[in-house]
Amino acid sequence: MKILAIESSCDETAAAVVEDGTRVLSSVVASQVAVHHVYGGVVPELASRKHVEAIVPVVREAVESAGIHRSELDAVAVTQGPGLVGALLVGFSYAKAYAWGLGIPCVGVNHLEGHMSSIFLGDTPPEFPYVALLVSGGHTSLYYVTGPTEYELMGQTRDDAVGEAYDKVSKMLGLGYPGGVVIDGLARKGDLKAIAFPRPYLDKKAFDFSFSGLKSAVGRHLKDYPDPDEVRLHNIAAGFQESVAEVLCHKLIYAAKVKNCRHIAVVGGVAANSRVRAMVGDAAARRGLSFHTPELKYCGDNAAMIGAIGYHRFVEGSALGLNDDAYSRARLPSNTKHK
Ligand code: KG4
Ligand code: ZN
Repeated sequence: MKILAIESSCDETAAAVVEDGTRVLSSVVASQVAVHHVYGGVVPELASRKHVEAIVPVVREAVESAGIHRSELDAVAVTQGPGLVGALLVGFSYAKAYAWGLGIPCVGVNHLEGHMSSIFLGDTPPEFPYVALLVSGGHTSLYYVTGPTEYELMGQTRDDAVGEAYDKVSKMLGLGYPGGVVIDGLARKGDLKAIAFPRPYLDKKAFDFSFSGLKSAVGRHLKDYPDPDEVRLHNIAAGFQESVAEVLCHKLIYAAKVKNCRHIAVVGGVAANSRVRAMVGDAAARRGLSFHTPELKYCGDNAAMIGAIGYHRFVEGSALGLNDDAYSRARLPSNTKHK
């Protein structure tokens, strides 16, 4: 089954063709980073306008580079929420119209379920059950996953998402938006132990997270040492990143122990982080756990992951009507049981 998937929830206009929820025939991502960089964050109105400009060529390129004709598509899947409403509306309206024109179903999916399903886009998906850490610009959550659309929420952030903390620290350091990849790069040149920022474990045996205190600690350090030179800048980045990675790694490994899982996964934009990947990889190897994380190109926002979850939702019989709108039906992972 070939699904055309469309994603426009934030600052990436993306389209992909995915076969049977796992095989990516094409994946096109038009990033708006250059547009929003100067403002230090995503400007919703600009994002919507850029989606309007990009949606037609991005979808056309995805279908052409998949090597198929659009008449071979079986369904369209699209991000219905959560996200910026004006941005969502562009991809959502286009997807409904595209599907209607072809006479095929259109499936609305949850963006977070998309990130969770990015793990199926490889040759070696984890076996159920597994524990997954979803770390993005808007979310930091731990799930116990028992099926392709069955999740139990074990814990989540009480304040900032981890990607958000990266972006805010980056802004404090004058490094612009988005901050994750920049701080990741600087941290590799720094001394991991030079500056010890707090480890926001909260209760070590609970699965909630908190990153706003860590962000404030970086702010206080900058008050004590304004205008850091290059060496200090690298050390701040390394110290901050070490603290983040240690907390994420600790909670994920502990969750696997509590749930008695042999498989663990990290997904979402922050899953691209080099230190998180390395630390979790080492910890998993020491404990004989098998660690799964998407290829870098499927960590950040993309449409291939929307095609992966779209497949499962389609098989379950979910389809949109022409009167359905963006956001309103988009429950956070809809089969999630909250503990
Ligand atoms: O999943 P994503 O693309 O969008 C959301 O759904 O939020 O995640 C974007 C977030 C941003 O906060 C960005 O700074 C962060 O992921 N990010 C990273 C890295 N690459 C992207 N954070 C840490 N290290 C990275 N290498
Ligand atoms: Zn995302």
